[in-house]
Amino acid sequence: MAVFTNLLKFGVALAALCSVVVAQSGCGIPVDFPGQTRTFSISSSGGTRRFLVHLPSNYNPSTRTPVIVAYHGSGASATGFEPYVRFSQPAVNPNMIAVYPAGINGNWQGPTYATPGVNDMVFTTDMVNYLRANFCVDESRIYAAGFSNGGGFVNTLACSRQHGGQFAAFGGVSSALYTDVSGNTNCTPARSPLPLIQLHGYDDGTIRYEGGQGRGGPLPGILEWLSRWATRNSCGQPTILNEGNGVANYTWDCAGRNDAMQHYRLYPLGHNWPGPTGLVDISAEMVRFFSRHRRP
Ligand SMILES: *[C@@H]1O[C@H](CO)[C@@H](O)[C@H](O)[C@H]1NC(C)=O
Repeated sequence: MAVFTNLLKFGVALAALCSVVVAQSGCGIPVDFPGQTRTFSISSSGGTRRFLVHLPSNYNPSTRTPVIVAYHGSGASATGFEPYVRFSQPAVNPNMIAVYPAGINGNWQGPTYATPGVNDMVFTTDMVNYLRANFCVDESRIYAAGFSNGGGFVNTLACSRQHGGQFAAFGGVSSALYTDVSGNTNCTPARSPLPLIQLHGYDDGTIRYEGGQGRGGPLPGILEWLSRWATRNSCGQPTILNEGNGVANYTWDCAGRNDAMQHYRLYPLGHNWPGPTGLVDISAEMVRFFSRHRRP
């Protein structure tokens, strides 16, 4: 009996240890919504946190599947963001799980207008752990993408040693980079190079390409911010293609990895995520970029 009790105690201790060290795997858990989107919620920083999960129609619970987490812009919703960025459309993203979290009061941490006391990085890690435990997630292919305030928050994640290392690559459009304005004091990435793709309109009147004061604080110029990342990522000089139609396409090779950083500057584009009829279908480009990068 004593042996049994001790074994039981050992088992409980081991289980507790495992839940801290390695998240449980959701591989093998049957699901009934491939090809569809469901709403989930967990309790985390900020209270009850909601997110939408879209499974690709070919989702198989015994196959490790990549994940894109997509953060909406300020004042927007997860429900509105899903059709805007189109990561749930098979033509854009046939194989990856797409997840759309909802910010508290429609915002993400970073700017002065964000809800005080909410730690969206902690929420992100709690949410990703929930996904790992309930779906068959490919640990080496988890990506973060965002628009505007959401794009800035993706950069906040990329700059976090504690919360950024679980992602393989980062994507931003019209990113509001309030937490990475100068130097490296707020940016200590988990590894180098950390692949990233960013698109910004030259006519963006909300988050200006040249930087300056934004609604939530000071902002860096986009090229200056990119050059700080190029240094962090040990990249060479960018190759710049002016495609003649208003698209400038920058690519960097970093520490022996080809195209580890990419930037599109669009003339003319305002504060928008360009769609399928825009100069660059950034949703499809982002999925292609992500597909080339996995976490080492
Ligand atoms: C931008 O340049 C990269 C690297 O040369 C290339 O892979 C990509 O297709 C280009 N994008 C567009 C939209 O032309």
